[in-house]
Amino acid sequence: MSERYDGPLWGGRFGASPAEAFERLNASIPFDVRLAPYDIRGSIAHARMLGVQGIVSDKESAALELGLETVLREVEDGEFAWDLSDEDVHTAVERRLRELVGDVALKLHTGRSRNDQVALDLHLFVRDAAERIGAGVLASMRALVGVAETNRDLVLPGYTHLQRAQPILLSHHLLAHFEAFTRDLRRLEAAREAAGVSPLGAAALAGTPHPVDPRLTAEELGMEPFANSLDAVSERDFVLDLLYACAVLGVHLSRLGEEWVLWTSAEFGFATIDDTYTSGSSIMPQKKNPDAYESMRGKSGRLIGDLNALLITLKGLPLGYSKDLQEDKEPLFDAVDSVLAMLAVLPEMLRTAHFHSGRMAEVAGGFALATELADFLAAKGVPFREAHHAVGRLVRRCEELGFSLEDVPQDELAAAHPDLSEVPEGLLTPQGSVQNKISAGSTAPGSVDDQLRQAKVFLETMGGRLGGQRGQASEGSDR
Ligand code: ARG
Repeated sequence: MSERYDGPLWGGRFGASPAEAFERLNASIPFDVRLAPYDIRGSIAHARMLGVQGIVSDKESAALELGLETVLREVEDGEFAWDLSDEDVHTAVERRLRELVGDVALKLHTGRSRNDQVALDLHLFVRDAAERIGAGVLASMRALVGVAETNRDLVLPGYTHLQRAQPILLSHHLLAHFEAFTRDLRRLEAAREAAGVSPLGAAALAGTPHPVDPRLTAEELGMEPFANSLDAVSERDFVLDLLYACAVLGVHLSRLGEEWVLWTSAEFGFATIDDTYTSGSSIMPQKKNPDAYESMRGKSGRLIGDLNALLITLKGLPLGYSKDLQEDKEPLFDAVDSVLAMLAVLPEMLRTAHFHSGRMAEVAGGFALATELADFLAAKGVPFREAHHAVGRLVRRCEELGFSLEDVPQDELAAAHPDLSEVPEGLLTPQGSVQNKISAGSTAPGSVDDQLRQAKVFLETMGGRLGGQRGQASEGSDR
């Protein structure tokens, strides 16, 4: 009879134990411990399947499951004693299981490899993360709608080239960010779906001579089974999908952040961030810095880096597991943590901000109303190019005389173009300009009301969907 083995998972063929420096390089336990809840869920599904398929006895399957439940409780209660000499989370869980249930633990890994095991853990993590990020995006969208509703009529300049272009409603502007977030939700949903394939049963790469049933384990975990065992252990597309969703979301947050950095500067003076979301300077007593929005701008670079890191890791790998794949975790965790940290702040930071309507309105008009005049002439039948030219000349004349378009005298208007003597009262104001729009999706108050209504319908339906799809295993704080 061969002796029971007590060393690392793979010690049999080695004559010496690994060097400490190698162990440090090789180990993933410092960062993959957070996969433990997913790892254990996966092992429970595997243990049940082993029992159903008669690969282990019902009694053994039950003992494995019971032991794994205990390990899960220890992990959740923070009682699990992580040992850095365990190579990775899979080793650690199996070691603890053996301490709890004895030698039957040695049968758990039948028909399984760490390759399909770690791929499964990641699938479960990505599915859970996509849902949690989606919930954070939804919370930000609710805040945008709330702030847009409360400030429905405030105007500010819309910009092109960061030059004042045309007046728009603040609510219209906020809802533009809402739209971007709807697309983020679609990308997150795609990543969640891609993560819904269970690799369990692929074993190392080739499948296994044991009568495992990948459909059973997949079903148990609310997933679909893999089609090809080699692909199942090799692919990380679902991680890329989530990292891409995070990178694009990060870019959206960064653009929003950049606007707030501008808006809260003295030069713009459009808004003030509540004290609870700003910080001061250690030397300049007057400073109130928009750090949170700057972090949102800054972290987007990291998120793009996380996506790049994994793309580059994967690009030269032959099919089958290579140790390079261990490098998939830290970019993934970093992206998820960064995005969640930003989304934890954004909704309340938006809700508690103060807008300076006077300042915004003051700079929303002026020459930003020039297009209104050109459109007025075009509506009277003047060819638009001609109208554009006439108003351009008027703007130049106003600059020379020191007038703004709001206070330009009637005779100057008439001199620029005869039809301009009939410009209706009120058109040359920021409010008049936004009210003058009639096209779908425009900044006109009626159109923004429509957009608000649609946004709320979207939130109701999406909110319900996201609420109903929470996974079982979760490392989230809502556990
Ligand atoms: N820690 C490893 C990883 O994260 C687990 C898989 C190990 N598989 C192997 N064949 N060495 O990728």
